[in-house]
Amino acid sequence: MIKVLFVCLGNICRSPMAQFVFRQIVEERGLSNNFEIDSAATESYNEMCHAGIYYGTKELLKTKRIPFEEHYSRQIRKRDYEYYDYIIAMDDNNIRDIQALTGPDIKHKTHRLLDFTAQPRNIKDPWYTGNFEEAYQDIVEGCNAFLDYINL
Ligand code: 4NP
Repeated sequence: MIKVLFVCLGNICRSPMAQFVFRQIVEERGLSNNFEIDSAATESYNEMCHAGIYYGTKELLKTKRIPFEEHYSRQIRKRDYEYYDYIIAMDDNNIRDIQALTGPDIKHKTHRLLDFTAQPRNIKDPWYTGNFEEAYQDIVEGCNAFLDYINL
């Protein structure tokens, strides 16, 4: 079982989108039984108010016909670093914040999603840009490249 945790700042826009996009790609490739997939935040404010997936991400997932369930924001913990095989961040700030919370990446588990692609870059936060389609395109590109990298 390969355990994957997608991480962003708030865990209500990009990382849940990545979680459900990746789950669908994995299903399409007949690899569902090989993966455990979840997502988490670097901040705790959405956990404190028990925030679910932001409606912009829900609308995007519905438009793209990607199945999802409700997911409530939670902050990444030290034990997540031990448990998961891959901690997949959306941007540079996430990488810095993850290390502040879970310690140095001594097992080289933490990666930026688009670092698996030919054009390594951050995924812009649609919470600020309002552009959920752009985040989705980047996430699809990154998830496919990540799965190719795992090479099952
Ligand atoms: P995310 O976007 O990191 O892609 O989930 C954000 C969602 C909420 C907030 C910031 C970023 N916020 O400030 O509540």
